[in-house]
Amino acid sequence: MNHSFDVAIIGGGINGASIAYQLSKIGKKVAIIEKERIGSEASSAAAGMLAAQAEIEHDGPLFQLALKSQAMFPDISNELFEYTGIDIEYVHKGMLKIAETEELAHELKKQVNFQKQWDHEIRWLDTKELLDMEPALSPSVFGAIYLPNDGHVKASKLTDAFAKAALYFGAEIRENTKALSFIYENGKIAGLNTNNGTISCGQVVVATGAWASELLKNTGIDIPIYPVKGECFSVRTEEPLINTTIFSDKRCYLVPKRNGEIFIGATMVENTFEKKVTAGGISGLIDRACQLVPQIKDAEWERVWSGIRPQTSDGLPYIGAHPLCQGLFIAAGHFRNGILLSPITGKLVVELLENQVSNDSLLTAFRLDRSMEIIQ
Ligand code: FAD
Ligand code: GLY
Repeated sequence: MNHSFDVAIIGGGINGASIAYQLSKIGKKVAIIEKERIGSEASSAAAGMLAAQAEIEHDGPLFQLALKSQAMFPDISNELFEYTGIDIEYVHKGMLKIAETEELAHELKKQVNFQKQWDHEIRWLDTKELLDMEPALSPSVFGAIYLPNDGHVKASKLTDAFAKAALYFGAEIRENTKALSFIYENGKIAGLNTNNGTISCGQVVVATGAWASELLKNTGIDIPIYPVKGECFSVRTEEPLINTTIFSDKRCYLVPKRNGEIFIGATMVENTFEKKVTAGGISGLIDRACQLVPQIKDAEWERVWSGIRPQTSDGLPYIGAHPLCQGLFIAAGHFRNGILLSPITGKLVVELLENQVSNDSLLTAFRLDRSMEIIQ
């Protein structure tokens, strides 16, 4: 087994896998170090929405990053299929951001003007137009913003496809291997200590999602990334109940998958790494989902699951170089949008490692030193 690499990526979630793919594609010798299995944490729990417009309501670096990444999906989907044969189930049927009250309808109508600057096809639908489009919706809703370009993918398949495409270009994947600490030589990163021995490499990328602060504490910095658990469930119906993703607020959405399943999410439980799915969490989701689409109560039950989102104190991910350790980089803290942001994250990390970051790069907003503490 090879123990020497150009780059070791810690974390085999969607971001680690996307970074591994982009780096191995340009000829780098890459290893993914994953403490469990590829995609075993947040990246397989996600609903897979590419909800740049529905999730992010203000212009700014995160919104611009999200739009760029969203636009990469048609090509990424084709390219990953070509290298791996995996269909990531990219669906481009849009999303409805629903107003369940009159006050919310008023708020959302104002948002349409902002959204239209970026996508002229976005428009407000009144209740009648909305029910014409999605007849299973409750007639008690007050209209919705129609976002034709917020699609979705199967998150677990996209993670798997990135990892398999990285393998295709020669990457190695070490599962059940936990990175414990960093090895330095002459003030630079030279490798990793893991529970399965050491790995030598010239550069390391920490892509460990909600677990990123833990590993970075012994490198002299404290970055505020904390866990937010999300619980979900899914149902199946014989005939499709809905065609478009129904997004009510950040605590209830219904995503109709290609295989007939509807993913329904998700709770937001702060400051826990414990993944147990609670009866209270799921019953709250069932109530909200049935208020939106009453026939959900007759749908066949499929499964429940949960995952841990990596939240940051200012809501922006960290994508940048470690301020104290040469050769060490971080790409973590993608919170509710890590699936959407995965293609652009892979590309931007290549720019960072190859020292190709331009002065006007989007990366400036995601630097580590914007909000962190030096602790040594
Ligand atoms: P993770 O997927 O958490 O991967 C990090 C990996 O690092 C893990 O596999 C972990 O085992 C590994 N690791 C940690 N420490 C170590 C170590 N010391 N050594 C080795 N390996 C280590 N995003 C969207 O864009 N759209 C959605 O619709 C959406 N829905 C969501 C729904 C739910 C319920 C949840 C929970 C999240 C959702 N998200 C969504 C958010 C998205 O899932 C995350 O932002 C994304 O998966 C983060 O990916 P990641 O690769 O950074 O982290
Ligand atoms: N983006 C959906 C979620 O995090 O639940």
